[in-house]
Amino acid sequence: MHPSGSGAAVEAVDLHKVFGPIHAVDGIDLALRPGRIYGLLGPNGSGKTTLIRLLAGLARPTAGEARVLGTRMPSRPMLARIGYMPQAEALYPELSVAENLGFFARLEGTVSRAAMDRALELVELGERRATPAMHLSGGMRRRLSLACTLVHEPPVLFLDEPTVGVDPALRVQFWSHFRRLAGAGTTILVASHVMDEADRCDELVFVRSGKVIAQGTSAELRSGAGTTDLEAAFLHYAGLDAEGRPLETAP
Ligand SMILES: Nc1ncnc2c1ncn2[C@@H]1O[C@H](COP(=O)(O)OP(=O)(O)OP(=O)(O)O)[C@@H](O)[C@H]1O
Ligand SMILES: [Mg+2]
Repeated sequence: MHPSGSGAAVEAVDLHKVFGPIHAVDGIDLALRPGRIYGLLGPNGSGKTTLIRLLAGLARPTAGEARVLGTRMPSRPMLARIGYMPQAEALYPELSVAENLGFFARLEGTVSRAAMDRALELVELGERRATPAMHLSGGMRRRLSLACTLVHEPPVLFLDEPTVGVDPALRVQFWSHFRRLAGAGTTILVASHVMDEADRCDELVFVRSGKVIAQGTSAELRSGAGTTDLEAAFLHYAGLDAEGRPLETAP
């Protein structure tokens, strides 16, 4: 299917990223299959954003390899086939909603008016197209950022906490849209701290201290942690007790 022959849309092979004394990504192997939604979970600072940036080709690994659709990253031509929604906003505050969207669409090689309209409709910003980004509410900026990520309809999406600050009604719509995209073959890796979102993923990848320490369906992760509750499973894999204290120092 892809030049690498593995059939995986996104791959990490013994991937490492070191920042001075910090081993942010510490030997990660992954193979994400097309048309599936993968949730990336883990405590603050566990390496989720760094891993996503390596996979999306926005940072160079210290060692190992990241591949998207069989192409080794970083790769400039692949940027047109990837949607990346950063955790921190990357909008131009003085540009309007429509100008921001147009900027990203051109960057990604698409300027179809219909695609831009579809993206704005999805995030319900059609009425605000002339508003400068800096005059939008926080949740609206997050919505615009998602529209900029999706506008070129890429086959691979990396979403770093896409729904932070987005109201529950729109969050549900985003997730139905992610599911529709996956149904059409899009591969999605989404970092999240929201457990009900994690439950909507086909598979979860739990990282801690730069390593994948558990991977599987939500049911598999819960049963591996000996619980029926995903939040309790999160604490288990994070090495914390039920009150969120480190197990090593818990009485
Ligand atoms: N550019 C950088 N320079 C130095 N250290 C960095 C850099 N980027 C990340 N780090 C460090 O790497 C580690 C992993 O950070 P990362 O942002 O990947 O975590 P995360 O899992 O996304 O956390 P969060 O849940 O808070 O978003 C942290 O210790 C962080 O301080
Ligand atoms: Mg992060």
